[in-house]
Amino acid sequence: MEKLFGMSVVILWLQLARVKSQVEQNPEALHIQEGENVTMNCSYKTTLGNLQWYRQDSGRRLILQILILSNEKEKSNGRLRVTVDTSTKISFLFIAVSQAADTATYFCALDT
Ligand SMILES: *[C@@H]1O[C@H](CO)[C@@H](O)[C@H](O)[C@H]1NC(C)=O
Ligand SMILES: *[C@@H]1O[C@H](CO)[C@@H](O)[C@H](O)[C@H]1NC(C)=O
Repeated sequence: MEKLFGMSVVILWLQLARVKSQVEQNPEALHIQEGENVTMNCSYKTTLGNLQWYRQDSGRRLILQILILSNEKEKSNGRLRVTVDTSTKISFLFIAVSQAADTATYFCALDT
């Protein structure tokens, strides 16, 4: 009998929300196929303090992924990378080669 090879695709669900009113995150939700790179952004209105990107798995507490200090422009943590553009007041979170385990809600927060 011939063996059947099924193709399985994992859909990641990344949902973004606001932690504090002075930041706005985009996009609000993303459906990603495993292996794709993901980009999210977070724009802020106030002067930049330390910026944090958190992840939260459903029903669990926020876990800090990357803390970027006000004098830093870029920081990496494994497959995650955060950049900050102070002229446009936007921070980007990149996830390289996404995995099913990246499925979570991601938040950015700003210390002012
Ligand atoms: C931020 O994300 C939104 C939604 O994906 C997108 O429309 C917008 O162009 C992004 N901003 C920048 C500066 O890339
Ligand atoms: C995904 O990101 C990695 C690391 O930044 C890069 O090497 C690769 O070319 C990117 N892949 C795509 C499809 O953009």
